[in-house]
Amino acid sequence: MRVAIMGAMVEEVDPFLSTGEHEPLLKYFEKHDDVEYGGNTYHLARYKDLEIVLAYSKIGKVYSALTAATMLEHFGCEMLLFSGVAGAVNPELKIGDLIAATKLCQHDLDITAFGHPYGYVPEGKIYIEPSRELLQIAKEVAEEKGIELKGGIIATGDQFIADPERKEWIARTFDADAIEMEGASVAVVCDALGVPFFVLRAISDAADMDATFDFDEFLRHSSQRSSSFILAMLEKIDVQVAGSR
Ligand code: ADE
Repeated sequence: MRVAIMGAMVEEVDPFLSTGEHEPLLKYFEKHDDVEYGGNTYHLARYKDLEIVLAYSKIGKVYSALTAATMLEHFGCEMLLFSGVAGAVNPELKIGDLIAATKLCQHDLDITAFGHPYGYVPEGKIYIEPSRELLQIAKEVAEEKGIELKGGIIATGDQFIADPERKEWIARTFDADAIEMEGASVAVVCDALGVPFFVLRAISDAADMDATFDFDEFLRHSSQRSSSFILAMLEKIDVQVAGSR
């Protein structure tokens, strides 16, 4: 089984890069190659019985769609796990909380001028759902490790939201719980290609911060939480794959 693990920013796959405080996700894998493809680096590795392709895409819907499609089509990944951070829209979500996407949508997709709802284009769908099996694995990991994992709607767009009005609009329009910049584009790619996927985010901010907010600090800690959880999921996936042989 070949599994894609992706984030958007280097910090999301290597959370303590600049501090040297901790090791990146890659440390847990047996890396055997780095491949340059389409302007990006893909780390090929092993984790127990699983083959891993690890990469960060760069920020935004276009880069993340390119990376996800490359991981599936060029590297042949059969499952994709996304790890990263998000801004909270639901006031119950606090910094550091983990949220698994139960549905994803694009909040900046707008052809309402032609009478369509926000987030919709003809022949597309507003919401895309991740794999139920992977959500179940995440639930089991959370229970076993005593980690609180919330589920909710993640809204994606090519904007870093730091504005209470825009945040409220996204919450209202899409019933969203968290916002970020890559989940829904990765979901579109995986859904179109029939590959099971899972999007996990740790909350890094409340999407309404003032200039004094230290995003970088929360980015690192929340990325670490998200990637550790992904690692625990891999452990379970590995056991299941081994058991099904
Ligand atoms: N990722 C983390 N925080 C975010 C925010 N406020 N807006 C968009 N993407 C984010």
